[in-house]
Amino acid sequence: MSNAKTIKKAVLPVAGLGTRFLPATKAIPKEMLPIVDTPLVEFAVREAIEAGIEEIIFVTSHTKRSIEDHFDRNLELELKLSSSNKESYLDKVNLNEYEGIKFSFVRQRDQRGLGDAISQVSHLILPDEYFAILLADDLFDGNPGVTSQLMDAFKLHGKSIIAVNEVSEEETKKYGVISGELSGNLTSIEEIVEKPQSNPPSNLAVTGRYLLSGEIMEELKTLEPGFGNEIQLTDAIAKMLQKGEMLGLKYDALKFDCGSKEGFVQANIHFAKKQYIIS
Ligand code: G1P
Repeated sequence: MSNAKTIKKAVLPVAGLGTRFLPATKAIPKEMLPIVDTPLVEFAVREAIEAGIEEIIFVTSHTKRSIEDHFDRNLELELKLSSSNKESYLDKVNLNEYEGIKFSFVRQRDQRGLGDAISQVSHLILPDEYFAILLADDLFDGNPGVTSQLMDAFKLHGKSIIAVNEVSEEETKKYGVISGELSGNLTSIEEIVEKPQSNPPSNLAVTGRYLLSGEIMEELKTLEPGFGNEIQLTDAIAKMLQKGEMLGLKYDALKFDCGSKEGFVQANIHFAKKQYIIS
């Protein structure tokens, strides 16, 4: 029996082309680009597992096979490491955290936007089930992780909840933007708009972590293309808002926008310092 108030599934859309990182992403998925020595996508997966997720569902494409390999075992490599005095690397290639975690992969055939990517897995999410969405491009350094912070708020309130942060007015153009009165770090969302090019409803930007009711799938089915002529998750959330309360959580963590070169380089510097690789 599914327990509506326990979130065990996370969806990670990873089908994007990674155009901004060409030529690196010609043959390598952008999610596999390393932050020091760890592929970007592994940070999101570990954050999800830390938050109690047991099933990771990737929305992928034919150019992203190495992501499947990365979350599988590589027995030949493990054997070589153990027989050549390199055992210390074993836990890097087969993390204990992955024990018991199910990884599934669903292909998105056309790139029609984030909302379209999420709707590809509608058959794996029940309407009365809540699930997490993590966009790997948004990399956080938080303790606990941002998904855990959302889970804690979800356990208290039992409602769909989105991670938000304050950005400058100029930057609101790049994000989903909500409005609502903050009480502490939580707000009831009044409005949500995808990438407002003028008159943003506030400076609270949506970041890539969501806990949503499976009802979103029904909204996505009938959605017309929105900003950028793409099916926008934000627009489906706006429709859900008309039916019931949703919350925004101002998380406590450092954020790196690894969809941009600047954020990607900054993340590398941050984690290299944290691991004492550079000072
Ligand atoms: C997506 C969402 C946007 C959100 C952003 C967070 O946009 O559509 O609402 O603010 O992720 O990273 P993208 O960055 O994929 O264009």
